[in-house]
Amino acid sequence: MKAVIANDHGGVEIAKMVLAHLQARGIETVYLGTDSTESVDYPDYAEKAVLEFRKGGYSFGVLICGTGIGISVSANKMKGVRCALPQNKYAAEMTKRHNNANFIAFGGRIEYSEPVTEILDAFIDAAFEGGRHQRRIDKMMALEGK
Ligand code: RB5
Repeated sequence: MKAVIANDHGGVEIAKMVLAHLQARGIETVYLGTDSTESVDYPDYAEKAVLEFRKGGYSFGVLICGTGIGISVSANKMKGVRCALPQNKYAAEMTKRHNNANFIAFGGRIEYSEPVTEILDAFIDAAFEGGRHQRRIDKMMALEGK
């Protein structure tokens, strides 16, 4: 497995944790920063990550900003992206099983009720169910550009 990770200044600490966790799991990582707490613009990092993901060979991407909202909304503006912002392990698992999300976002300034690494694992370890969910995803993706 290979993952691309990017964050703004609000996500530096979580990004470090996510990188260490993915590497410990044997997942290849490509990290696009920012590794500084100096203010940057989250759409720039969403774009960098999606462009990298499109090069191919990636299983998923991880995006982090202060809330996870700005960077996930930005990524979801780009074609082919289904970036989820799960609240917990259940939502992370379900977004793979039902939405086949290809990006997962977190908020560096959000207090989660479960460890972010466990939320991430729930996403990674789940499998897309296909069937009626593929039909819904086809409809979802047909909304792009409307
Ligand atoms: C940056 O201060 C902050 O707005 C950003 O990290 C994110 O929370 C936006 O959605």
